[in-house]
Amino acid sequence: LQTLPCVETDVIVIGSGIAGLYTAIEAGKDHNVIMITKNALLESNTRYAQGGIAAVTSEDDSPAYHREDTLMAGAGLCSSAAVDVLVNEGPDNVQELIRLGTAFDVENGELALTQEGAHSRRRILHANGDATGFEIVRALAAQVRMHERVQVWEHHFVIDVLNDGNECIGVLLQRPDGQRVYVKAAATILCTGGAGQLYRYTTNPEVATADGIAMAYRAGAQIRDMEFIQFHPTALCYPGAPRFLISEAVRGEGAVLRNIKGERFMEKYHELLELAPRDIVARAIVSEMEETKSTFVYLDITHEPEDMIKHRFPTIYETCMNYGLDMAADWIPVAPAAHYMMGGVKTDLNGESSVPRLFACGEVSSTGVHGANRLASNSLSEAIVFGKRIVNRIRELVPLVAPAAIAYQEQDRTGVPKQAMIERRLKLQKVMVRYAGLRRNEALLHKGLDELKRQLSIFNSELSKKEEFEFANMLTSCLLVTQAALERKESRGAHYREDYPQKDDAVWRKHLLLHRQHEIM
Ligand code: SIN
Repeated sequence: LQTLPCVETDVIVIGSGIAGLYTAIEAGKDHNVIMITKNALLESNTRYAQGGIAAVTSEDDSPAYHREDTLMAGAGLCSSAAVDVLVNEGPDNVQELIRLGTAFDVENGELALTQEGAHSRRRILHANGDATGFEIVRALAAQVRMHERVQVWEHHFVIDVLNDGNECIGVLLQRPDGQRVYVKAAATILCTGGAGQLYRYTTNPEVATADGIAMAYRAGAQIRDMEFIQFHPTALCYPGAPRFLISEAVRGEGAVLRNIKGERFMEKYHELLELAPRDIVARAIVSEMEETKSTFVYLDITHEPEDMIKHRFPTIYETCMNYGLDMAADWIPVAPAAHYMMGGVKTDLNGESSVPRLFACGEVSSTGVHGANRLASNSLSEAIVFGKRIVNRIRELVPLVAPAAIAYQEQDRTGVPKQAMIERRLKLQKVMVRYAGLRRNEALLHKGLDELKRQLSIFNSELSKKEEFEFANMLTSCLLVTQAALERKESRGAHYREDYPQKDDAVWRKHLLLHRQHEIM
């Protein structure tokens, strides 16, 4: 046994998307903060967010309308208290983002607002047309870099958050040179983002491997609503191209969906047509794909003026052009892809998990805002609103009393060859698409669970490289998603069971909580 080197700080922030950056800036006003990110500071899911950030900023809108839309999308599982917090505190936090240097688009001297599915008002702020996430990350990262009390540790991997039996006392991490360190802190905030990489086709970048869920689960925290995975209806589906997001705002500005025969089809599925809730549009697309024996449908915005398309969607326009697709003249081939995880680490209204001193913010958290289906563009607002609340709560914490020394058994860490890890990851992603995807049933979910357990049984537990830690975290999270999907015997929001196609409020208007003692592991 040896003692790990220990570094002490007040607050640890893990992850550098909007949740991590905003929370670190706020926490740094009163505390010393170490921000740990497994990649470069600017890399995160937020960076790729297009559509924008939902908050009430116009005269014809109100928190009550925003609340109603959020609850409606959430299909009976939102926490109304959490939604109240979101809609009432969103506008001030958006103003803070602006004060911190985020330049949202402006029209005639007012913030420009767009429309997205299931919103009753235009209330989505955006930046540089369709590059909202990048603008937010740019502005906040610049603040973090200048911040005297925030240290940024890039390319460091948090292996585990540490629970001493009563509370979280910090993290175990691996430095880029392989050295392991105990970072001790009075508060640890998971801002590790989402889980898109659990699926073969996703709008999320490589880093979205559900690390925070798995770490919190291992540390004994309650995990909630894991069956609710949102598939974005329109990701680019073209040979050689990644599943690049084609923002819902494109439909918000008038684009229509057509099957490969050229027929508009959404009128068969929902009165809100292309702006119906995401789960409905995504499943409608899959039905049309099956009926026409195609792997995609088309998104058509060719009736809008070319100038408007180029000005409003410069990133999407350029990306499509890179593949020879001109949005102003061509229909864009699209298909659904995993996009957002509604569930996560269960928190209270101050972002604290069931393990004291362990907080979760942003996509990794389950604050109760999203219920069974997230309203588009509520995720960025959730991150800043609850990030601010977490920092307020941390101000009230009494100092942590815990030893600085942690005994540690160094293992022989030979690791798994890189190619083998790539293949295992791909296999896992295919299992999830096949058995726990957009449409589920008992037989498929059982098969999926068996396959995941088989993969668990052969996985080498002496982990040494980032790819191995990520794979282990993904495997844990896949098991949580699949187990929860098997248990929920109804269809609600983003969770659709072919064998239980109806919503069953009498039995299932409740949450599924998973934690370490649960039978799946
Ligand atoms: C989009 O631009 O369609 C994504 C917005 C979101 O997922 O909230």
